[in-house]
Amino acid sequence: MRVAMIGGGYVGLVSGACFADFGSSVTVVERDPAKLAMLRDHKIPIYEPSLDQIVARNVQAGRLAFTADLKSAVDGADVVFIAVGTPTRRGGGHADLTAVYEAARAVAKAATAPLIVVTKSTVPVGTGREVARILRETRPDVRFDVASNPEFLREGNAITDFTEPDRVVIGIDLLDTEGAARAEASMRQVYAPLVAKNTPFRFVSRESAELAKYASNAFLAMKVAFVNEMADLSEKTGADIAEVAGCMGLDRRIGDKFLRAGPGFGGSCFPKDTRALAAIAQDAGVPSRLVEATIAANEYRKEAVARRILALAGGEIAGKVVALLGLTFKPDTDDMREATSLPVMRNLLTYGARIQAFDPEGMAHAKSMVTGDVTFMPTARDAIEGSDILVLLTEWDDFRKLEPQDVMAAMRGNIILDMRDIWDGSAFTAAGAVYHAVGRARTA
Ligand code: UGA
Repeated sequence: MRVAMIGGGYVGLVSGACFADFGSSVTVVERDPAKLAMLRDHKIPIYEPSLDQIVARNVQAGRLAFTADLKSAVDGADVVFIAVGTPTRRGGGHADLTAVYEAARAVAKAATAPLIVVTKSTVPVGTGREVARILRETRPDVRFDVASNPEFLREGNAITDFTEPDRVVIGIDLLDTEGAARAEASMRQVYAPLVAKNTPFRFVSRESAELAKYASNAFLAMKVAFVNEMADLSEKTGADIAEVAGCMGLDRRIGDKFLRAGPGFGGSCFPKDTRALAAIAQDAGVPSRLVEATIAANEYRKEAVARRILALAGGEIAGKVVALLGLTFKPDTDDMREATSLPVMRNLLTYGARIQAFDPEGMAHAKSMVTGDVTFMPTARDAIEGSDILVLLTEWDDFRKLEPQDVMAAMRGNIILDMRDIWDGSAFTAAGAVYHAVGRARTA
């Protein structure tokens, strides 16, 4: 199949590279000149394990190319995916669909033969229908079949999630039997290796596919927000959230995934998609109290981390040095979008604290997002050196290897707050720490 992927962002780049790896001939259209130059130079603008190898081998095999010229990519393509950004619109939580509709118009103008057009961006219910309308209005002379194929990959795990997904969801226009059959056949071809290994495929209405994406993200976000509340309760009651979640997760109706307590969820998806879903539900006249509560609980939690650090410091933190380990919204990414570290740093600076921060991949972005007394350190050890309080926010693997004795020897103070519960609290306590972990009464 000849595939055009409009948008070389996270989803577009990963999907484009993986479709090429599946055997299609893929052209990724990226209009940001800086990004395009990097891609053409075989440099990956995002940090995603093993993506560079997949891109390199498919470029070499002649199956993957990058261009700014949408027209040439669409000309001769069998399938066009729209994978452009859908950020939160200013005011209210709605998704901004400007880029999606612009892409649809550009695709229509460029089309020279019948096309399957697939939205891969996360889009509100009804967007597929609107894309179909735009395409047909712009080019009544061309046949377009419009499908919705939401993407469920996680940053940091993108390649495995794409190549071994739990399911592939494809929304088609069920009222147009012939068009639906054409779209279904093309999608089966693009995803041939997954069809061959019996991955569950769900061909549903476009509206169901669009809503399934938001509902899945919101449900996972709700799980995380719920377990975070139970973590607070565990701390107050003497329970241990890791034990509580372990017991809950054994119930297959609940499942053991997304039950790790932490400093609140962030990233480019959960916050944006929960806001968008709440807005969609409001507009539809059926407000989602649960999604709204998830958003509010998470906002509260992100702001509460700094208050907790202030309380651990005895209510006065001006002039004290706080070491922050892990700034990205989760490990194995350089993504700082809506990371909890941002409100934590902002609030600590307001309290007058001095911050020594370290993150393996996120510091370049972090530097441009905070102003004030933050020193970005070259290593975790440097960040810890001379600190009064050490706070771990993101569970990068390297941080697991830190030796309690070394950490305590490097610190000036002895307060540790492990917001991901990755360290051995008793070893730190034995080394002299006053040790606090998320969801657990203090290790004595
Ligand atoms: C999320 C979904 O997991 C993907 O299925 C989806 O495709 C993607 O959004 C998207 O819509 O594009 P992602 O944002 O990459 O993926 O990150 P997650 O691994 O889901 O983590 C989200 C946040 O929840 C992170 O801040 C993470 O630290 C937090 N989290 C997750 C927890 O605090 N505890 C957990 O148990 C799991």
